Amino acid sequence: MPWLTCSKLTLFTIAGVAIQMVGLSIFVFGFFPVKPTLPGHSGPESFQAPKCNSIQNETERDLHPHQLRSLYKELSGMPPAFDRLILMVIDGLPAELVLGKDGKPPSKALMEAMPYTQSLLANGMAIGYHAKAAPPTVTMPRLKAMVSGAIGGFLDVALNFNTQAMLDDNLLDQFFKIGWKMVMLGDETWLKLFPGLFIRHDGVSSFFVKDTVQVDQNVSRHLGHELNKDDWDFLILHYLGLDHVGHIGGRNSALMAPKLSEMDDVVKMIHMSSILNQKNDQGQTLLVVVSDHGMTESGNHGGSSYEETDSLALFIGLNNDISDYSLSTHNIIYQVDIAPTLALLFGVPIPKNNVGVLIAEIFGYLADDQQLKALELNSWQLLRLLQAQMPGLSCRNYLCDGFSDDQESKITKCSGSMGKMFCCLYTNAALLQNSWMSKEFSRSKSKEDYSSAVTAYYEFLRTAKTCQPTYSRNCCNAPVLSDIIKPSI
Ligand SMILES: *[C@@H]1O[C@H](CO)[C@@H](O)[C@H](O)[C@H]1NC(C)=O
Ligand SMILES: *[C@@H]1O[C@H](CO)[C@@H](O)[C@H](O)[C@H]1NC(C)=O
Ligand SMILES: [Zn+2]
Repeated sequence: MPWLTCSKLTLFTIAGVAIQMVGLSIFVFGFFPVKPTLPGHSGPESFQAPKCNSIQNETERDLHPHQLRSLYKELSGMPPAFDRLILMVIDGLPAELVLGKDGKPPSKALMEAMPYTQSLLANGMAIGYHAKAAPPTVTMPRLKAMVSGAIGGFLDVALNFNTQAMLDDNLLDQFFKIGWKMVMLGDETWLKLFPGLFIRHDGVSSFFVKDTVQVDQNVSRHLGHELNKDDWDFLILHYLGLDHVGHIGGRNSALMAPKLSEMDDVVKMIHMSSILNQKNDQGQTLLVVVSDHGMTESGNHGGSSYEETDSLALFIGLNNDISDYSLSTHNIIYQVDIAPTLALLFGVPIPKNNVGVLIAEIFGYLADDQQLKALELNSWQLLRLLQAQMPGLSCRNYLCDGFSDDQESKITKCSGSMGKMFCCLYTNAALLQNSWMSKEFSRSKSKEDYSSAVTAYYEFLRTAKTCQPTYSRNCCNAPVLSDIIKPSI
């Protein structure tokens, strides 16, 4: 009798397949961290400190969008800086082509391709950042990161290549809740992510990669008309042509300089139109020019090289004098930092799964106490996210018992487990803020006390961001202070 009967063979095969499946799933879930995202949207609770027990009582109140808008304004104590937003996405534009690299400006040819944008930067009327994008450097996950402040896992792309509507909390939903009207011109990815959200749209397909002309003309053809309209609050322009230029001929393609000039003309047209220059009935407008990712020398993207992750964030039309900052070399942020920055500028709650940190210089127009308030709101949101990711993280001593006298002596050097570390860093920041706020006379409010409160908040925010428990498991036993970029407030 042969030892390998038919039924044994079947058993072996089934066992083999089962072992393979187990192996594959260990590989997939080990290699691609699965990020649990919090359902729902941030609401009025965002403007209050998280409670000491991590279970939140979030009663969704049925408010009219305009009531919600006033409620946010009242709760935050920070009036929104702007009323209207234009987000111009230049697909695949490496920040290096506009801002240069390592303190050196871009080549002469590139500078001359974008005369208007370069003059805005040189005159302190615009501030530009290298906004480091997380891989995979492809359009859809990068757009999601910009509007939600969350870094999706690799699995997100693997399982979700056919773009589906975005369910996680994000800026567009937050704007929609306060009654904003939105218009989208350009890459139809936006229409797939946010179906039914736009009052007008003209989507272009990224399918015809050889087309570098019509794909952008179809966006610009509506621009003059839209700039004269006053019925929208948020205008998205997503230009795909530059990415297509890269795919055809790489960074050094002969089409690159003309395409950059075309983009420069769009910036000029928006900036010269009255809406940025004066405070009119529709309120003040902010123009933000971003790219979703960069590209390699040969024009590819998707990976994690410097060239591919070097995306752009350019703010045009800020209230404050930014000429001091525009010369500074401190111009590296993360792409996810765009979401909390815009949420705070426009007075909506920071999206729930955000791991970004507000961009310091942008808030230079605020008084000292309000700048601390902005950092506090960002910290509350991240603390809530951490509480949800690490059940049991209650920061008991501080959140439950509140402050006592003699606060400054309670500032401690933080160490221990990840949970203890987060609580300790947050508590230090809150104590320093409280102590600074409690000094009544401006003479006793020293600049050093203020800076140490700001630094403490950044320490918490940056640690919380880089030590997301779902991304890296052992990074957080001691914060490396040199890793924490010092704010330049
Ligand atoms: C939440 O708050 C509402 C009133 O604000 C209260 O009626 C309800 O019982 C609370 N729920 C929980 C779980 O505490
Ligand atoms: C641009 O618009 C024209 C006319 O509406 C349309 O036929 C064409 O397919 C569009 N091009 C792209 C790339 O979407
Ligand atoms: Zn793209």
